[in-house]
Amino acid sequence: MVIRPYAPGDLPRIQQITTDSFEGVSIDRNIEAEYGLVAGRDWKERKARDVGVDCQVQPDGVFVAEDAGVAIGYITTRLDRFTSIGRIPNLAVDPGYRGRGVGTLLIEHAIAWLRAHGMAMAKIETLVQNERGQVLYPRFGFREVARQIHFVMPLDEPAAPPESGSEGG
Ligand SMILES: CC(C)(COP(=O)(O)OP(=O)(O)OC[C@H]1O[C@@H](n2cnc3c(N)ncnc32)[C@H](O)[C@@H]1OP(=O)(O)O)[C@@H](O)C(=O)NCCC(=O)NCCS
Repeated sequence: MVIRPYAPGDLPRIQQITTDSFEGVSIDRNIEAEYGLVAGRDWKERKARDVGVDCQVQPDGVFVAEDAGVAIGYITTRLDRFTSIGRIPNLAVDPGYRGRGVGTLLIEHAIAWLRAHGMAMAKIETLVQNERGQVLYPRFGFREVARQIHFVMPLDEPAAPPESGSEGG
């Protein structure tokens, strides 16, 4: 197994790994579970596009794990020269290759790359429902600094008036 730089020809395979991987651990999937398709698009289309954007914005910060010539995982990164906080927006390993240390190697590689490119800190986000991520990231030295709640509402019907905190008056 090797970790190598991304090449544009990797994109379809990376997107396949993405849609095979984020079923239970994606905000887009949660939106679909709550509301169904959004404007005719499913969560897989949105998540695959999200990773495609990573590959466009910072292609030199995307790395692919390859085994016997087949891409089995990837990680994306972003540099931010202003904040000096580098991000790891997306990471996934083909379900058939998990639990063998591929994810760990990808994360180590990404951290080293961010450090080598002058970032003072590395940032990664995970959902509360992603138990694996929550166990994995602190092992590298990441510390939890915040929890965020995502709210979503459809805009094809009038918004309900906000509920008043007090009755009558
Ligand atoms: C998170 C992910 C990239 C880890 O990849 P991986 O190659 O399995 O990672 P590793 O083999 O290095 O395993 C790291 C740890 O994950 C956990 N883990 C891995 N496979 C597991 C499995 N099948 N069941 C439960 N835990 C598992 C273990 O804690 C393991 O460490 P340990 O075996 O040394 O105790 C992978 O699970 C994945 O693609 N998940 C879906 C997408 C995702 O969650 N991406 C990150 C979004 S924040």
